[in-house]
Amino acid sequence: MCGIVAYVGTREAYPVILKGLKRLEYRGYDSAGVALINDGIKVYKKQGKVSALEESLLGVDLHATIGIGHTRWATHGEPSDRNAHPHLSSSGRIAMIHNGIIENFAPIKQELLNKGYVFKSDTDTEVLLNFIDDILTNNACSLEEAVRIALKRVVGAYVIVLLDKENPDTLIAARKGSPLVIGIGKDEHFLASDASPIIEYTKEVVYINDYELAIIKGDELVLKNLGNEKVTPFVQQLDMELAAIEKGGYDHFMLKEIYDQPQTVFDCLRGRLDLAKGDLVMGGVQANLEKLVNAKRIIIVACGTSWHAGLVAEYVIEELCRIPVEVEYASEFRYRNPIVGPGDVIFAISQSGETADTIVAIENAKAKGAFIFGILNVVGSSIARISHAGAYTHAGPEIGVASTKAFTAQLVVLNMIALKIAKEKGSISNERFLQLLAELNALPDKIASILSVADAIRVVAQKHANASSFLFLGRGYNFPVALEGALKLKEISYIHAEGYPAAEMKHGPIALVDENLPVLFVATKDAYHEKVVSNMQEINARKGKLIGVVTEGDTSMKMLKADLMEVPSADEIVAPVLNVIPLQLLSYYIGIERGLDVDRPRNLAKSVTVE
Ligand code: F6R
Repeated sequence: MCGIVAYVGTREAYPVILKGLKRLEYRGYDSAGVALINDGIKVYKKQGKVSALEESLLGVDLHATIGIGHTRWATHGEPSDRNAHPHLSSSGRIAMIHNGIIENFAPIKQELLNKGYVFKSDTDTEVLLNFIDDILTNNACSLEEAVRIALKRVVGAYVIVLLDKENPDTLIAARKGSPLVIGIGKDEHFLASDASPIIEYTKEVVYINDYELAIIKGDELVLKNLGNEKVTPFVQQLDMELAAIEKGGYDHFMLKEIYDQPQTVFDCLRGRLDLAKGDLVMGGVQANLEKLVNAKRIIIVACGTSWHAGLVAEYVIEELCRIPVEVEYASEFRYRNPIVGPGDVIFAISQSGETADTIVAIENAKAKGAFIFGILNVVGSSIARISHAGAYTHAGPEIGVASTKAFTAQLVVLNMIALKIAKEKGSISNERFLQLLAELNALPDKIASILSVADAIRVVAQKHANASSFLFLGRGYNFPVALEGALKLKEISYIHAEGYPAAEMKHGPIALVDENLPVLFVATKDAYHEKVVSNMQEINARKGKLIGVVTEGDTSMKMLKADLMEVPSADEIVAPVLNVIPLQLLSYYIGIERGLDVDRPRNLAKSVTVE
């Protein structure tokens, strides 16, 4: 959601910024723009794709060694050229890009209107920019000081980066609640919302903290807090390769990331699962085992696909650890004054680590004394820094907007955490523990075997690509898988889809069933299998179009007229990792059949940094 790129140094800034904006396209956006300093500030912006901006600038002299660029995901004001960033202040002295939301923009705007300011856009960004401009004009102070004064008044979340006509070699940036990474090169600096625009130039990065201000020249980076005290930058090495953020021969990032899964699950297990010793090594869990084992309850907060991973974990943790688990939408949890305090453990699950609702939910719970444990993919992300401890999923960068490999990696990490707690607590027998370790270890090969029959799933997708609605049903561990299948299909194909616990079908959704409705059952062999097959019979009797994700060799559905997608047999605890793969492929192929942009579905953002 909104992408930020900026450059200052010795190279041409525009190509660096343009390439960076393209790398951030996956975050979701509806307009793009750049501002460069070359004999004053020049601003260029356009509604639509970065390529539209690029085309509109063909033949324009864009020479500059400092600049800022932005992809905007509309919040205040429709997607349009005039609402696109960067914005130029009324005086023309400063230009700014912004990711986030200024919640108290309305009273500030009114004050500025009273002073005669005229606004060229509907954005909260332009309000903050002119507020800074106004402070600058009236206080005879530096831009750095004006930004500090303005930010003390601002309520909301932001990353801002400013260009100043009067100081054409300096960028000023600040953050609160939205992500910003600074890459350090030789006599140059790169700023971006995540590391993907930076990685091809340098691996040395600094993650800016909330309430910090960066004053950046080509050869100098100064960090200060809002009290004007210097802060020592903590330089880290990026653990990421350029190849990981490129398509690697696949038609789409989504397909690549689906096919990455044998490797990502392997990476997630590597160094942790020790089959020979019959043990699991997880630093963040080990260091906090006592807190985890003695948790009064575990509350899982997350959004979307990560919330589905949390629902699977609820079943797994309650079964293996006998600790009560609640799974909460972060957006609800943050506002309802939840009863939470010392003794509660919060699992925050997030692939991006930047989801605004999850951030506030855990900040609130932390303030009330709960212990926050992050299950995260992005090292150094906001949630990683707020959490007391955590475990990384090691899925690598996920560029496709719809989450695939990050989800399966979350499931694997949550399984490992549950097993580790159960072992320590004594709520699992050693035999069962070892059996589940072996089940986890077998997952990469089993995923690879599902991927090897993707063509058969494509045939099922082609058959149902014109449906206008879908039902996804499952029970037990497969209920959250059904929810995830429905979400994936909605996102990628724009087909209406609902997920339900299979037995709930009779309490309403069955009214939808006729010969036009595809009803997909996640019906692999588990404790509920016979009951699920009965539910399938009920749909069959009403002429619904049955689709099943079933265990290889299962003959119990032979008499049903159904399109079956087989997965290898697995213990029900780990089975969701496998069962979701055909659903990811089904969505992908249906999206392709319908001619849609599967990597960047409309209206969606990869990183939902506003509430
Ligand atoms: C769906 C999807 C979203 C995210 C949700 C939370 O494919 O990716 O539903 O799961 O926006 O994002 P994170 O996990 O980054 O907190």
